[in-house]
Amino acid sequence: MDKFVIRGGNPLLGTIRVSGAKNSALPCMAAAILTEDEVVLENIPQVRDIETERKLLVSMGAEVELGYGRAQHRTTISCRVLSDPTAKYEIVKTMRASSLVLGPLVARCGLARVALPGGCAIGDRPIDLHLKGLELMGATILQEHGYLEARAERLHGAHIVFDKITVTGTEDLLMAAVLAEGETLMENCAREPEVVDVAALLVAMGANIQGAGTSTIRVKGVTKLHGARHRIHADRIEAGTFLVAGAITGGDLVVANCQPSHLSAIIAKLEACGVRITAMGTDSLRVRSEGNLRANDISTEEYPGFPTDMQAQYMALATQAEGTTTVVENIFENRFMHVGELVRMGANVKVDGRTATVRGKTPLSSAVVMCSDLRASASLVLAALVADGESILDRVYHIDRGYERIEEKLRGVGAQIRRMGDLFGSGKREVALEAQVS
Ligand code: EPZ
Repeated sequence: MDKFVIRGGNPLLGTIRVSGAKNSALPCMAAAILTEDEVVLENIPQVRDIETERKLLVSMGAEVELGYGRAQHRTTISCRVLSDPTAKYEIVKTMRASSLVLGPLVARCGLARVALPGGCAIGDRPIDLHLKGLELMGATILQEHGYLEARAERLHGAHIVFDKITVTGTEDLLMAAVLAEGETLMENCAREPEVVDVAALLVAMGANIQGAGTSTIRVKGVTKLHGARHRIHADRIEAGTFLVAGAITGGDLVVANCQPSHLSAIIAKLEACGVRITAMGTDSLRVRSEGNLRANDISTEEYPGFPTDMQAQYMALATQAEGTTTVVENIFENRFMHVGELVRMGANVKVDGRTATVRGKTPLSSAVVMCSDLRASASLVLAALVADGESILDRVYHIDRGYERIEEKLRGVGAQIRRMGDLFGSGKREVALEAQVS
């Protein structure tokens, strides 16, 4: 398994570029199921979850080209023939966002078999709200042998009020509704920019959608959708992660190719900590810090509140702020997996239920640490960038799920970070430095 070796202490200086949003690309790739025509998506991030989604679509009979040449990060998807509308457990267990094919498959094929995603490191991640919406639209749903089977001759419009705000639930049912007979009214929807992005693709394919990005979405079903070309928007969580990287290292960093309008809650919190953030044109932000950070509480909320996907990264910064920071995680029940590893590096963090209390400023020292989930891994990278000495982060495949070549991007702005395979890793790898660290 690959590891990162990171020597802390360098301020990040220069320009770092943000890739396309993983959490936008995943539903957009699933939307291609809804038409027999080709769908072309630009600005696709080169991350593991996209490869997993490619495998999933191919396993159902789709043709998926995925290229990351210099000029293009593009995928061309053709679901002309879907021979097997099944999302197999072997794939779903590695990526719960596979449930995003549920709605499109029922809408296109009248049948979907999707392995139950099961839990993951941050929580049990149910999809009951997805299923409830599909049943309201006329699907019958059976569960056996760890699989869900949803069937419908043709889905019909419904009035859906989400019990809880769910991002992929909103996206899944939006994709089901666009081919349903009649009108669907969805209330208490997620307002995330990723919902807006997949709705923009669906409209480009011929769908009739009003209200994406608000809590209330109206869909008028159509009988057929055609192909389209769509550019995935910038990844706001990667951008936020890089803003924290510039701040925690006391650097002067330009985060380019981002969409500042998606980052308001993150920017507000960082500025409250004393970080200086200035707009550079319409798609870049400059982040500076001299290191004198002040503690500032956060409480994660659905968009446009402070995103849960930035909680772990912000906590790393909070360890370097003077004072006590209270971090409340309202979205997931177990999203403090990074705390134990931060404490091993010298952080002072106490967890009580959904609240973590961070006392700073504490100097961090290098350690051999373990990545556990995507954003917890990002938090450990940030901590290692400021820790004294050389840290080794194990199981970085977690971070590869959602960050495109993060070690190359960070090295490009002065970080001392390199990837290495373990002693038995494949290919030409640097010999593991564990012996030198232990
Ligand atoms: C999406 O997950 C993102 N993933 C997550 O990003 C993100 O953390 C999350 O939204 C919250 O913003 C993708 O978009 C692929 P939810 P999702 O449904 O849709 C409960 C990352 O780091 N719930 O909005 O699965 C659920 O348990 C990932 O990139 C139900 O109870 O999250 C949670 O407590 C991690 N029943 C809350 O709602 C349901 O049917 C919000 O979950 C669905 C959700």
